[in-house]
Amino acid sequence: MILNDAQRLQSDLLAWYDRHRRTLPWRAPPGEVADPYAVWLSEIMLQQTTVATVKGYFERFLTRWPTVADLAAAPLDDVLTEWAGLGYYARARNLHKCANVVVERHGGRFPANEAVLLELPGIGRYTAAAIAAIAFDQGATVVDGNVERVISRLRAIETPLPDSKPEIWRWAEAITPAARAGDFAQAMMDLGATVCTPRTPLCMVCPWSWACEARAAGIAADLPRKKARKPRPTRYGMAFWLEREGKAGREVLLRRRPEEGLLGGMMEVPSSPWTEDPAADGWSHAPAQAEWTAVDEPVVHVFTHFRLELDVVRGEVSAGVVAEGVWVRLDRLADYALPTVMTKAIKAARG
Ligand code: ADE
Repeated sequence: MILNDAQRLQSDLLAWYDRHRRTLPWRAPPGEVADPYAVWLSEIMLQQTTVATVKGYFERFLTRWPTVADLAAAPLDDVLTEWAGLGYYARARNLHKCANVVVERHGGRFPANEAVLLELPGIGRYTAAAIAAIAFDQGATVVDGNVERVISRLRAIETPLPDSKPEIWRWAEAITPAARAGDFAQAMMDLGATVCTPRTPLCMVCPWSWACEARAAGIAADLPRKKARKPRPTRYGMAFWLEREGKAGREVLLRRRPEEGLLGGMMEVPSSPWTEDPAADGWSHAPAQAEWTAVDEPVVHVFTHFRLELDVVRGEVSAGVVAEGVWVRLDRLADYALPTVMTKAIKAARG
């Protein structure tokens, strides 16, 4: 690629962005720089899920904790509760830890330097580059899934992901402009989300169609190629919905998961270990002796590395029975940080 091409790619994409950029709650109006706290928060959230889902979470976080100092001062449990449903709770813990480090070591201001950002908890290569570019207008190269698709097509990279990542990075770096790098990064993301879409790219309206090698070869929709992933295994477990009549109304037994590991520190309906053996004995993990009745269908939840089938059973004990966990009033369930799989189990148990 000749230098001239890089400059034309930059100016064509930035001109397109000026007309077609999406309005998103964490974005500054055109020409203004974004609040680093808002950029950081949105980028951490966007690593988990879609723009559509993140909007609501982002606005609730920012209303409740308008500055990084407010977030740092919040009890971790409140942050986890507000995060519930976004998944990967280790990220929420790191979010809170990071807010504290920014307050304690950086006077409540995010550092403007990519290498220093990289030292903060929960901030990896992608997020450091995104904050440096978007919030501080530095010439950092930002590569997410959308950018991978756009670059793979632009250069007709046939090597499947993830092997093609270094090559994609090199191309992305080669076309990153020194000025407006944040806009350029977000423009590639918007292009990937609205024009250079996974299945049926809208090449007719693409500002880069003149340069796109995949389009020229008629293979845009086939890229990026991906290495076949191993199929997800299924794990099995039991969840025990146990109620009792408390002093102030009906209560259910919940338990906190260990800090380490999947859904670390989140509350759960007591459950057996999740194993790949469908015949494993779940009953021995019941939190108390009770007359249990099974819910018809198992609850199915898909995690990144496995699919879970959870058999939910319901039981009741009298007020004096001792069981490990905390008794929570049914009308206070919303106060607890419950992961999505547990929300599903609760719904199944309550019918
Ligand atoms: N995905 C991740 N970060 C984004 C951003 N800043 N704009 C649009 N989509 C994104």
